[in-house]
Amino acid sequence: MSAPLLSRVYEGGAGAVVTKSVGPRPRMGHPNPTVVAVEGGLLNAMGLPNPGAGYFTGEIERLKEAGVPVVGSFFGASVEEFVEVARTLAGVGVDALELNCSCPNVEEEMGLLGSDPANVERITGAVKEAVNLPVFVKLTPNVADIVEIARAAERGGADAITAVNTLKALAIDVDLRRPVLSNTTGGLSGPALKPVALRCVWEIAECVDIPIIGVGGVSGWRDAVEFLLCGASVVEIGTAVMTRGFEVFREVAEGIRGYLAQNGFKEVREIVGLAHEA
Ligand code: SIN
Repeated sequence: MSAPLLSRVYEGGAGAVVTKSVGPRPRMGHPNPTVVAVEGGLLNAMGLPNPGAGYFTGEIERLKEAGVPVVGSFFGASVEEFVEVARTLAGVGVDALELNCSCPNVEEEMGLLGSDPANVERITGAVKEAVNLPVFVKLTPNVADIVEIARAAERGGADAITAVNTLKALAIDVDLRRPVLSNTTGGLSGPALKPVALRCVWEIAECVDIPIIGVGGVSGWRDAVEFLLCGASVVEIGTAVMTRGFEVFREVAEGIRGYLAQNGFKEVREIVGLAHEA
Protein backbone atom coordinates (compact mmCIF):
# COMPACT_ATOMS: atom_id res chain seq x y z
CA MET A 1 0.00 0.00 0.00
CA SER A 2 1.62 3.23 -1.13
CA ALA A 3 2.15 6.47 0.82
CA PRO A 4 -0.40 8.45 -1.28
CA LEU A 5 -3.10 5.85 -0.61
CA LEU A 6 -2.33 5.73 3.11
CA SER A 7 -2.30 9.55 3.22
CA ARG A 8 -5.85 9.49 1.87
CA VAL A 9 -6.84 7.25 4.80
CA TYR A 10 -5.41 9.85 7.21
CA GLU A 11 -7.02 12.74 5.34
CA GLY A 12 -10.28 10.75 5.47
CA GLY A 13 -10.27 11.13 9.25
CA ALA A 14 -8.29 8.17 10.63
CA GLY A 15 -6.16 8.87 13.69
CA ALA A 16 -3.30 6.78 12.29
CA VAL A 17 -2.67 4.39 9.42
CA VAL A 18 -1.62 0.75 9.57
CA THR A 19 0.50 -0.41 6.65
CA LYS A 20 -0.02 -3.65 4.76
CA SER A 21 2.26 -6.22 6.41
CA VAL A 22 5.85 -6.17 5.22
CA GLY A 23 8.42 -8.92 5.57
CA PRO A 24 12.18 -9.13 5.21
CA ARG A 25 12.20 -9.73 1.44
CA PRO A 26 9.98 -8.95 -1.54
CA ARG A 27 7.13 -11.49 -1.93
CA MET A 28 4.85 -11.98 -4.90
CA GLY A 29 2.04 -13.47 -2.80
CA HIS A 30 -0.42 -15.98 -4.22
CA PRO A 31 -1.51 -16.04 -7.87
CA ASN A 32 -4.94 -14.70 -8.79
CA PRO A 33 -7.75 -15.03 -7.90
CA THR A 34 -6.81 -13.70 -4.47
CA VAL A 35 -10.02 -11.87 -3.50
CA VAL A 36 -13.70 -12.76 -3.78
CA ALA A 37 -16.80 -11.04 -2.45
CA VAL A 38 -19.01 -13.30 -0.31
CA GLU A 39 -22.20 -12.74 1.67
CA GLY A 40 -21.37 -10.20 4.35
CA GLY A 41 -17.79 -9.51 3.39
CA LEU A 42 -14.69 -10.49 1.47
CA LEU A 43 -12.44 -13.51 1.32
CA ASN A 44 -8.81 -12.75 0.59
CA ALA A 45 -5.77 -14.93 0.21
CA MET A 46 -3.19 -12.43 -0.93
CA GLY A 47 -0.33 -14.42 0.61
CA LEU A 48 1.41 -11.40 2.15
CA PRO A 49 2.60 -9.77 -1.09
CA ASN A 50 4.96 -6.90 -0.31
CA PRO A 51 8.04 -5.18 -1.67
CA GLY A 52 10.21 -6.05 1.35
CA ALA A 53 10.90 -3.87 4.37
CA GLY A 54 14.00 -2.30 2.81
CA TYR A 55 12.02 -0.90 -0.11
CA PHE A 56 8.97 -0.01 1.97
CA THR A 57 10.96 2.32 4.21
CA GLY A 58 10.71 4.94 1.45
CA GLU A 59 6.90 4.90 1.69
CA ILE A 60 7.07 5.27 5.48
CA GLU A 61 9.48 8.21 5.20
CA ARG A 62 7.04 9.94 2.83
CA LEU A 63 4.18 9.39 5.28
CA LYS A 64 6.22 10.72 8.19
CA GLU A 65 7.22 13.80 6.17
CA ALA A 66 3.51 14.42 5.65
CA GLY A 67 2.91 14.17 9.41
CA VAL A 68 0.93 10.93 9.27
CA PRO A 69 1.10 8.69 12.39
CA VAL A 70 2.15 5.26 11.10
CA VAL A 71 1.76 1.80 12.57
CA GLY A 72 4.10 -0.52 10.70
CA SER A 73 2.58 -3.98 10.27
CA PHE A 74 5.22 -6.66 9.82
CA PHE A 75 5.78 -10.39 9.66
CA GLY A 76 8.57 -12.93 9.47
CA ALA A 77 8.99 -16.67 9.25
CA SER A 78 11.23 -16.87 12.33
CA VAL A 79 12.07 -14.88 15.46
CA GLU A 80 15.16 -13.54 13.69
CA GLU A 81 13.14 -12.30 10.72
CA PHE A 82 10.56 -10.59 12.95
CA VAL A 83 13.38 -8.81 14.78
CA GLU A 84 15.14 -7.83 11.55
CA VAL A 85 12.00 -6.26 10.05
CA ALA A 86 11.02 -4.57 13.31
CA ARG A 87 14.45 -2.91 13.45
CA THR A 88 14.20 -1.77 9.83
CA LEU A 89 10.78 -0.18 10.39
CA ALA A 90 11.84 1.38 13.69
CA GLY A 91 14.82 2.89 11.90
CA VAL A 92 12.58 5.00 9.67
CA GLY A 93 10.43 6.34 12.46
CA VAL A 94 7.21 4.33 12.57
CA ASP A 95 5.20 5.35 15.62
CA ALA A 96 4.33 1.79 16.59
CA LEU A 97 4.61 -1.74 15.26
CA GLU A 98 1.87 -4.28 14.64
CA LEU A 99 3.31 -7.78 14.84
CA ASN A 100 1.37 -9.94 12.42
CA CYS A 101 1.74 -13.58 13.41
CA SER A 102 -1.80 -14.39 12.35
CA CYS A 103 -2.13 -14.43 8.56
CA PRO A 104 -4.27 -17.47 7.67
CA ASN A 105 -2.98 -17.60 4.08
CA VAL A 106 0.66 -18.64 4.50
CA GLU A 107 0.36 -21.66 6.76
CA GLU A 108 2.13 -24.00 4.36
CA GLU A 109 5.24 -21.82 4.20
CA MET A 110 5.32 -20.24 7.62
CA GLY A 111 3.30 -22.62 9.77
CA LEU A 112 0.97 -21.47 12.47
CA LEU A 113 3.22 -19.10 14.41
CA GLY A 114 0.32 -17.24 15.95
CA SER A 115 -1.50 -20.35 17.16
CA ASP A 116 1.23 -21.41 19.55
CA PRO A 117 1.41 -19.40 22.79
CA ALA A 118 5.11 -20.20 23.29
CA ASN A 119 5.94 -18.83 19.81
CA VAL A 120 3.88 -15.70 20.35
CA GLU A 121 5.55 -14.99 23.68
CA ARG A 122 9.03 -15.62 22.25
CA ILE A 123 8.56 -13.48 19.14
CA THR A 124 6.92 -10.65 21.07
CA GLY A 125 9.67 -10.69 23.69
CA ALA A 126 12.44 -10.64 21.09
CA VAL A 127 10.85 -7.75 19.18
CA LYS A 128 10.26 -5.75 22.35
CA GLU A 129 13.88 -6.22 23.30
CA ALA A 130 15.08 -5.11 19.87
CA VAL A 131 13.10 -1.88 19.47
CA ASN A 132 12.02 0.96 21.69
CA LEU A 133 8.50 1.26 20.32
CA PRO A 134 4.97 0.23 21.26
CA VAL A 135 4.27 -3.24 19.84
CA PHE A 136 0.74 -4.42 19.13
CA VAL A 137 0.33 -8.16 18.57
CA LYS A 138 -2.36 -9.07 16.03
CA LEU A 139 -4.07 -12.34 16.89
CA THR A 140 -5.81 -14.94 14.80
CA PRO A 141 -9.38 -15.99 15.63
CA ASN A 142 -8.57 -19.41 14.13
CA VAL A 143 -7.69 -20.99 17.47
CA ALA A 144 -9.61 -22.85 20.15
CA ASP A 145 -8.63 -20.41 22.90
CA ILE A 146 -7.69 -16.88 21.90
CA VAL A 147 -7.26 -15.84 25.52
CA GLU A 148 -4.32 -18.21 25.90
CA ILE A 149 -2.59 -16.49 22.96
CA ALA A 150 -3.42 -13.01 24.23
CA ARG A 151 -1.94 -13.87 27.63
CA ALA A 152 1.22 -15.11 25.89
CA ALA A 153 1.56 -11.82 24.00
CA GLU A 154 1.07 -9.91 27.25
CA ARG A 155 3.74 -12.02 28.96
CA GLY A 156 6.07 -11.28 26.04
CA GLY A 157 5.68 -7.58 26.72
CA ALA A 158 3.07 -6.55 24.10
CA ASP A 159 1.77 -3.03 24.59
CA ALA A 160 -1.60 -3.91 23.07
CA ILE A 161 -3.50 -6.77 21.43
CA THR A 162 -5.04 -6.29 17.99
CA ALA A 163 -8.07 -8.54 17.76
CA VAL A 164 -8.59 -10.01 15.24
CA ASN A 165 -7.13 -11.05 11.88
CA THR A 166 -9.42 -12.75 9.38
CA LEU A 167 -11.36 -15.99 9.86
CA LYS A 168 -10.22 -18.89 7.68
CA ALA A 169 -12.97 -19.60 5.16
CA LEU A 170 -13.77 -20.96 1.69
CA ALA A 171 -15.83 -20.10 -1.40
CA ILE A 172 -16.74 -22.54 -4.19
CA ASP A 173 -17.32 -21.72 -7.87
CA VAL A 174 -20.25 -23.96 -8.83
CA ASP A 175 -19.61 -23.61 -12.58
CA LEU A 176 -15.94 -24.56 -12.34
CA ARG A 177 -16.73 -26.91 -9.45
CA ARG A 178 -13.68 -25.90 -7.46
CA PRO A 179 -12.60 -23.32 -4.89
CA VAL A 180 -12.66 -19.72 -6.16
CA LEU A 181 -9.33 -18.71 -4.62
CA SER A 182 -6.06 -20.07 -5.95
CA ASN A 183 -5.02 -20.74 -2.34
CA THR A 184 -8.25 -22.75 -1.80
CA THR A 185 -8.95 -21.02 1.53
CA GLY A 186 -8.87 -17.35 2.40
CA GLY A 187 -9.53 -15.02 5.31
CA LEU A 188 -13.05 -13.67 5.84
CA SER A 189 -13.30 -9.95 6.65
CA GLY A 190 -16.14 -7.44 6.72
CA PRO A 191 -19.52 -7.45 8.50
CA ALA A 192 -19.74 -11.27 8.68
CA LEU A 193 -16.59 -11.28 10.83
CA LYS A 194 -17.85 -8.71 13.33
CA PRO A 195 -19.67 -11.01 15.80
CA VAL A 196 -16.63 -13.32 15.96
CA ALA A 197 -14.28 -10.37 16.46
CA LEU A 198 -16.50 -8.92 19.18
CA ARG A 199 -16.55 -12.25 21.00
CA CYS A 200 -12.74 -12.36 20.84
CA VAL A 201 -12.38 -8.80 22.16
CA TRP A 202 -14.85 -9.60 24.93
CA GLU A 203 -12.96 -12.71 26.05
CA ILE A 204 -9.55 -11.02 25.88
CA ALA A 205 -10.80 -7.97 27.79
CA GLU A 206 -11.83 -10.22 30.67
CA CYS A 207 -8.34 -11.71 30.96
CA VAL A 208 -5.57 -9.27 30.01
CA ASP A 209 -4.64 -5.84 31.34
CA ILE A 210 -3.14 -4.28 28.21
CA PRO A 211 -5.31 -2.29 25.75
CA ILE A 212 -7.13 -3.97 22.87
CA ILE A 213 -7.42 -2.69 19.32
CA GLY A 214 -10.68 -4.01 17.85
CA VAL A 215 -10.81 -4.98 14.19
CA GLY A 216 -13.23 -7.01 12.13
CA GLY A 217 -16.26 -5.70 10.32
CA VAL A 218 -16.34 -2.08 11.45
CA SER A 219 -18.31 -0.31 8.71
CA GLY A 220 -20.09 2.38 10.72
CA TRP A 221 -19.95 4.16 14.07
CA ARG A 222 -22.34 1.70 15.73
CA ASP A 223 -19.93 -1.14 14.98
CA ALA A 224 -17.09 0.88 16.48
CA VAL A 225 -19.12 1.63 19.62
CA GLU A 226 -19.87 -2.09 19.98
CA PHE A 227 -16.13 -2.81 19.98
CA LEU A 228 -15.49 -0.07 22.54
CA LEU A 229 -18.24 -1.34 24.84
CA CYS A 230 -16.76 -4.85 24.53
CA GLY A 231 -13.38 -3.61 25.74
CA ALA A 232 -11.47 -2.26 22.75
CA SER A 233 -9.83 1.16 23.23
CA VAL A 234 -9.36 1.81 19.51
CA VAL A 235 -10.72 0.30 16.29
CA GLU A 236 -9.16 -0.38 12.92
CA ILE A 237 -11.08 -0.26 9.65
CA GLY A 238 -10.09 -2.20 6.53
CA THR A 239 -12.68 -3.84 4.31
CA ALA A 240 -15.19 -0.98 4.72
CA VAL A 241 -12.86 1.32 2.79
CA MET A 242 -13.79 -0.71 -0.28
CA THR A 243 -17.52 -0.48 0.31
CA ARG A 244 -17.78 2.99 1.89
CA GLY A 245 -14.70 4.79 0.60
CA PHE A 246 -12.17 6.90 2.52
CA GLU A 247 -14.96 8.97 4.13
CA VAL A 248 -15.77 6.02 6.39
CA PHE A 249 -13.09 7.16 8.87
CA ARG A 250 -14.61 10.61 9.39
CA GLU A 251 -18.13 9.18 9.57
CA VAL A 252 -17.11 6.68 12.23
CA ALA A 253 -15.17 9.27 14.28
CA GLU A 254 -18.05 11.78 14.13
CA GLY A 255 -20.57 9.06 14.94
CA ILE A 256 -18.62 8.04 18.05
CA ARG A 257 -18.42 11.69 19.14
CA GLY A 258 -22.19 12.04 18.65
CA TYR A 259 -22.88 8.88 20.65
CA LEU A 260 -20.69 10.09 23.53
CA ALA A 261 -22.35 13.50 23.61
CA GLN A 262 -25.88 12.12 23.43
CA ASN A 263 -25.22 9.71 26.26
CA GLY A 264 -23.44 12.09 28.61
CA PHE A 265 -19.89 10.86 28.12
CA LYS A 266 -16.92 13.14 27.53
CA GLU A 267 -14.24 10.70 26.41
CA VAL A 268 -13.99 7.37 24.63
CA ARG A 269 -12.23 5.82 27.62
CA GLU A 270 -15.43 6.19 29.67
CA ILE A 271 -17.21 3.60 27.56
CA VAL A 272 -14.35 1.13 27.03
CA GLY A 273 -15.52 -2.21 28.38
CA LEU A 274 -18.74 -0.78 29.77
CA ALA A 275 -20.80 -3.74 28.53
CA HIS A 276 -18.93 -5.99 30.99
CA GLU A 277 -20.40 -4.04 33.87
CA ALA A 278 -24.02 -4.55 32.83
C1 SIN B 1 -2.71 -11.77 3.14
O1 SIN B 1 -1.82 -11.05 2.64
O2 SIN B 1 -2.89 -12.94 2.76
C2 SIN B 1 -3.56 -11.24 4.24
C3 SIN B 1 -2.78 -10.67 5.34
C4 SIN B 1 -3.23 -11.15 6.67
O3 SIN B 1 -4.32 -11.71 6.82
O4 SIN B 1 -2.49 -11.00 7.66
